Amino acid sequence: MKSGEIRKRYLDFFEKRGHKVIPSSSLVPENDPTTLFTGSGMQPMVGYLLGEKHPYGTRLTNSQRCFRSVDIEEVGDNRHTTMFEMLGNWSLGDYFKDEQLDWIFTFLTDELGIDPERLYVTVFSGDKKNNLPRDTKSVDIWKTLFRKKGIEATDVEMGSEESASVCGMQEGRIFYYDSEKNWWSRAGKPEKMPAGEPGGPDSEIFFEFTDVEHDESFGKHCHPNCDCGRFLEIGNSVFMEYRKREDSSFEKLPQQNVDFGGGLERLVMVSENTSDIILTNHDSILEFLEKNSSFSYEDNDKKTSFRIIADHMKAAVFLIADGVKPSNTDQGYFVRRLIRRSVRHADTLGIKESVLSKISSPVALMYKDSYPDIENKIVDIEKTIKTEEVRFRETLNKGLKEFEKGNVDPFVLFTTYGFPFELTKELADEKGIEVSEEMFKEKLKEHQEMSRSGSEVKFKGGLGDTSDMSVKYHTATHLLNAALKQILGTGIYQKGSNITSERMRFDFSYPKKLTDEQKKEVEHLVNEKILADLLVSVEEMDLQEAYNVGATGVFGESYPDRVKVYTISDKSGEVFSREICGGPHVSMLSELGTFRIKKEESVASGVRRIKAVLN
Ligand code: SER
Repeated sequence: MKSGEIRKRYLDFFEKRGHKVIPSSSLVPENDPTTLFTGSGMQPMVGYLLGEKHPYGTRLTNSQRCFRSVDIEEVGDNRHTTMFEMLGNWSLGDYFKDEQLDWIFTFLTDELGIDPERLYVTVFSGDKKNNLPRDTKSVDIWKTLFRKKGIEATDVEMGSEESASVCGMQEGRIFYYDSEKNWWSRAGKPEKMPAGEPGGPDSEIFFEFTDVEHDESFGKHCHPNCDCGRFLEIGNSVFMEYRKREDSSFEKLPQQNVDFGGGLERLVMVSENTSDIILTNHDSILEFLEKNSSFSYEDNDKKTSFRIIADHMKAAVFLIADGVKPSNTDQGYFVRRLIRRSVRHADTLGIKESVLSKISSPVALMYKDSYPDIENKIVDIEKTIKTEEVRFRETLNKGLKEFEKGNVDPFVLFTTYGFPFELTKELADEKGIEVSEEMFKEKLKEHQEMSRSGSEVKFKGGLGDTSDMSVKYHTATHLLNAALKQILGTGIYQKGSNITSERMRFDFSYPKKLTDEQKKEVEHLVNEKILADLLVSVEEMDLQEAYNVGATGVFGESYPDRVKVYTISDKSGEVFSREICGGPHVSMLSELGTFRIKKEESVASGVRRIKAVLN
C-alpha cells in the first residue's frame, strides 16, 4: 500500500470511531515561539491537551506534515528523512489506554494486514525520582491483544538503552524502558521539561525486518530501541496526563489525554516490506535524478546523494509552500541549507545544470490531493529554488576547489563561497578532517562586530547629497529594487547604487540580460506605484525586528543595532517595498513624475546595472 491509501484508511478508521478529521497545520508554527518548525502532530494541539475546548470536540485525527531539522545530518541512511507525515489521533479527556491500544493494534493488523508476529511494543518502567508510576495497565492490555491473535506476549524489564543491549530480548514481546525512551513531552524526559509543560508515559510499537541482521557495532544484542535497522518504530501512543509544576514535581492534568503519532512513510515501508524509506514516497524524484545524471539509484556509492537530494528537495518545496524563503536566519537558514546541500550532492551525481527547481513538479503531482497548495504555488516555489540554486552554483566550484587545495576554514568558505558551516563539516568529515564550530562562530561574531563599527559611520548619513532631485531618485531606487524582485524573482539583491541629481544607477545580481519585455514590465510597475501615489513611512527599530518585519538590506552590508526602516505601502497597508535605509525619502510618490529605464548592461559576472531617470 502506498502513502495515499494508508493515509485514507487511517483517517477513515478513526472517523468511524467518532473522530473529526482536521486539516494539517503549517510547517511554520503559528503563535509558538518555542520552536521553528512543526515536528509532530501534537504541537498545534498543546492548548487543547491542557484543557482548552476544541471546536470539533474531544476526538480528533489528521495527517500532519512535519519537518525535523535535527535529523538533517542523519538523512542518507535507509530510514531518516527531515520531512514526513505524521498520522495522529487524539482523545481530549475522552477515551484512554483501553480503546487506544485496541484500536491502533486492530488498525495495524486487521486493516493494514501487518503480521502481529512482527510487532513488538514498549512501555514506561516508571520513574521513582519523579514519583511517576510504572505503566502496568498498558502491559495488561497488550497481553490481551496479542493473546487474541494467538500470541503469548511476555514482558521484560530493559531499563536503559544501554542495559537493553547487554541483556537482549530474552524472548519477550513487551519491553519496559526508562523515561529516556518511554516518556514523551516536547522537551523530552521529565528532568528536561520546563514548568507548565504537559507530558506522559508512552507505548511504542515496533516492526521487525526479519531480513536485516543485527549489527554489533550498535551494541552486543539487538532490542526494539536498537539503531541497527532491524526494528523500526511505527507508532507511539502517549498517555498525556501529567504537567510539571513550578517546584519540579508532577501533577495530573484535569483530563486524561491520548496523543498518538505514527510516521506515514514508515507504515508504507512496513506495508511494502522495504527497509528503505526513500523508496516509499520519492519515486518520481529518483526518476527525475536518474534522467538528469548518468547514475542509477541502484549504484550503491551514489545512494546517499540520491537520498539526500530526494528528502531535502521535497522538504524545501513544502517549506517554501508554507512561506519560508532561503535566508541566513531561522527557518530560512534551513531552506538554504537543504537547497545548497542538494546542489552539492547533485554535483557529485554529475548534474552540472541548475535543474533541481524542476523537482517541484513531481512533488506537486505526488501531493496534489492532500496538499493542493503546492501546485497552486508552483511558479513561486520553482523561482525561489532556482534563484538559490543559481546563486550557489556561481560559487560552488570555486569553493570546492579551495577546499581541495586544502583550505578547510569554514569561515572563509562561508563568507566567500556561501558554504553553510554544516556543508564544510560534511566535506571535512568525508576526508577525516576536524573542523571546529566554536571557532567558526567566534570568527563570525568578530567579523560582524568589525563591519558593524565600520558601517555605523557610513550608515549615519544615508544619502550624502540631499538635494530635492537626489531624494526623489533615492525613493525611486527603492521602487526599482522592489519591482525587480517582483518581476525577476525574490532572489535578486542590490549590489550597489549611485545617485546624482541627474540620474540613478542601480546594480543588482541577475545572471542574464533583461529582455525588452522585462524592462517594460519593471518600468510599468514602478510607474503604476507612482501613479497610485503610495505612501512612504519611516520607523526606527532594532535590526532584528527590521528583519522580522521583512525589511531588506543591501547584501553584504552590516547594519548598526538600531536602524530606520522605510516602507512604501498603499492605503490599505499592503506593502510594496520595505528597506533598511538611512533616508531621506519623499513622503508621497506622486512627487516623482515618470520613471524611465535608459540603459541595462552587465558590470560583472552575474551583476547587472540599470541607469534610469525621472522626468
Ligand atoms: N507526540 C508523539 C510523538 O511525536 C505522538 O504523537 O511521537
